[in-house]
Amino acid sequence: MLVPLALSSISALALSILTYHPYQKHLTLHGLKKDPLSRPASSLNLESCEPVYPNKFLGPASAAEPAFCDDVVLHHQTKMAYMSCDPGRLGWDARMGVWEDEEVKEEGQGEAAIWAWDTSVESLPRKLFIKLPLPSDPVQPPKDLLRTFHPSGLAVTYSHPHYSDQGVENPAALVILVANHPKAHEAGVVDVFVHNLDSIGGRNSNIMRWIRRIEGDSLKEEERRLSPFRMEIFDEQHSKSLPRDGRSIEEKVLEGMSREEYASAHVRIPSFLFTSLALPTVRGGETAAGTTRSSSSSSVIDSYLTYAKALMMPTNDLPPQDAFIYHANANVTMNVLSEGSLPSWRGFPPLIKATDGGGKEAGSNSSLATFYASTLSGEESKISEWTQHWVKGIRAGIKEHLVESGSGEGVVGEKKTMISIKTYTPQFVTFWRHKLKRPLWAIGSDRLGRIWAAYQTDTIEALKWIDRMRQERRTRIRGVDSSSSSSQVEQAIRPTSRIDQITYIYKNLNLAAAHPWELTKVKQLKEKGLFLRKEFHQLSIFVSESQEQASRRGTGIERHKGFLPSIVTGIAVDHERGFLIVVGAYEERGIAKCVIPERWAEM
Ligand SMILES: *[C@@H]1O[C@H](CO)[C@@H](O)[C@H](O)[C@H]1NC(C)=O
Ligand SMILES: *[C@@H]1O[C@H](CO)[C@@H](O)[C@H](O)[C@H]1NC(C)=O
Repeated sequence: MLVPLALSSISALALSILTYHPYQKHLTLHGLKKDPLSRPASSLNLESCEPVYPNKFLGPASAAEPAFCDDVVLHHQTKMAYMSCDPGRLGWDARMGVWEDEEVKEEGQGEAAIWAWDTSVESLPRKLFIKLPLPSDPVQPPKDLLRTFHPSGLAVTYSHPHYSDQGVENPAALVILVANHPKAHEAGVVDVFVHNLDSIGGRNSNIMRWIRRIEGDSLKEEERRLSPFRMEIFDEQHSKSLPRDGRSIEEKVLEGMSREEYASAHVRIPSFLFTSLALPTVRGGETAAGTTRSSSSSSVIDSYLTYAKALMMPTNDLPPQDAFIYHANANVTMNVLSEGSLPSWRGFPPLIKATDGGGKEAGSNSSLATFYASTLSGEESKISEWTQHWVKGIRAGIKEHLVESGSGEGVVGEKKTMISIKTYTPQFVTFWRHKLKRPLWAIGSDRLGRIWAAYQTDTIEALKWIDRMRQERRTRIRGVDSSSSSSQVEQAIRPTSRIDQITYIYKNLNLAAAHPWELTKVKQLKEKGLFLRKEFHQLSIFVSESQEQASRRGTGIERHKGFLPSIVTGIAVDHERGFLIVVGAYEERGIAKCVIPERWAEM
């Protein structure tokens, strides 16, 4: 068998030549090969970052404080911020494919919840309790909604587009979209809630009312079942009006209402853009006991052999590097862009962040004028900017759908007829890509489209830290876990996180044409039809403290020394007021507010 052997050694050689270089790139990308970034970090601007809850020493947050917060959003007009926090995250982690302990709780562990924070005044975030519809209301949530609530991504907008048109600061209510992962090994859902700002407690109201669940076939694109992760509102298209308090309003009363009154009595669910977690694979009857303890197999590969194997045998356990749009008016999902079938890595689903491109002032007219999407392949991490563009004309984006009228409303005895609804899918083109030295864990964007990007110095270090916390939790809950005697886990140290600002400058024939804040100038240049090149500049702004630095200062980090989550997974930016809200899905110590240091970052 000389020939096949020779052949196979030749192909092995070819493979090793082909993959040697990419593998080196892979190592560098995750901080496994020494480069300037992986030098022991000294913290940077950490004194500008404070824990939001005023505990003097930074220890694990109590059940009365937000911790393990995956995502944060800020509604700019009302200045209301929302955070999705799940204290049971280590046992139930859709991003990493870990499904343990659905109903096991640790002593003193709080409930998974959305927290609301009125940042317009000096105040603290408040946990929102979910209010269910009355038993007599036509639309009912699943019975286990409260028990199986595991929120990740969030999006927020006005309860009715009437308010968006005017950008009012005091609307009756806001709509909160929550990517929720109630079932192990299954696609997630989007639960829609209303947070009233005009009832008892006003903006401090600690109740959000459940109104809808978007799930199943509504979140399916062609044959792909999707599991929403990060979401952004497309505020130009909405569902029909639903009564805000769940009870339908008499025709007679409706007729007498002013536009203002009508808007305040109703809710319209917005369309939204989203990225998906790894597609749940069909698992036949095999979801039983054996697989409930998934291995938290590391998503990044630190041995050449496994790397080569992953390239040759890609699993279908990877998130699609695509973005999708859910059309709330027709209750269907469509693909917005496809990055092709790049191999990706488990635990790093694509992130998105939308901006309105500077709004009308800068000549834009959509809430989704541009969006940033992160992609991660075996060797490369990058962020691309997608701009709404009518390459094929507006009409190419319009599609007609036949849907059942009255479906989903659950009105007994209502006759179902098919009606035709037109959806508009915006088209996007990309001109700009920015390469990054590390995979991104979070992106934020200010209203001028300047990016804030969070990443880890060393991916393996971060993943080991998560594993260690997970092991420790298991041990606390179940006593000593024999399967986890690995000393690697014990050695894991608190990882170092970094946040950079990525700003840009418009260029015209290599001359600086405009800065991001020169909106009128940008508009004029756009109107002249000039094609402006965008040049990105990236600067480190915040670096957390390494374990070594922290331990040199002894136990208990005092709050005035600053605090940044060890792994940042969510950032909300308000450049006008000059701060960032920073959260981490694996952060037991709470959330941080960072003041943008004046001479460091562009304001
Ligand atoms: C937005 O602006 C573009 C280009 O100026 C225009 O073609 C389009 O019709 C506008 N869309 C809306 C919804 O006003
Ligand atoms: C949306 O579609 C799904 C399935 O396609 C259906 O089960 C659900 O009732 C629909 N919801 C609405 C509000 O029409």
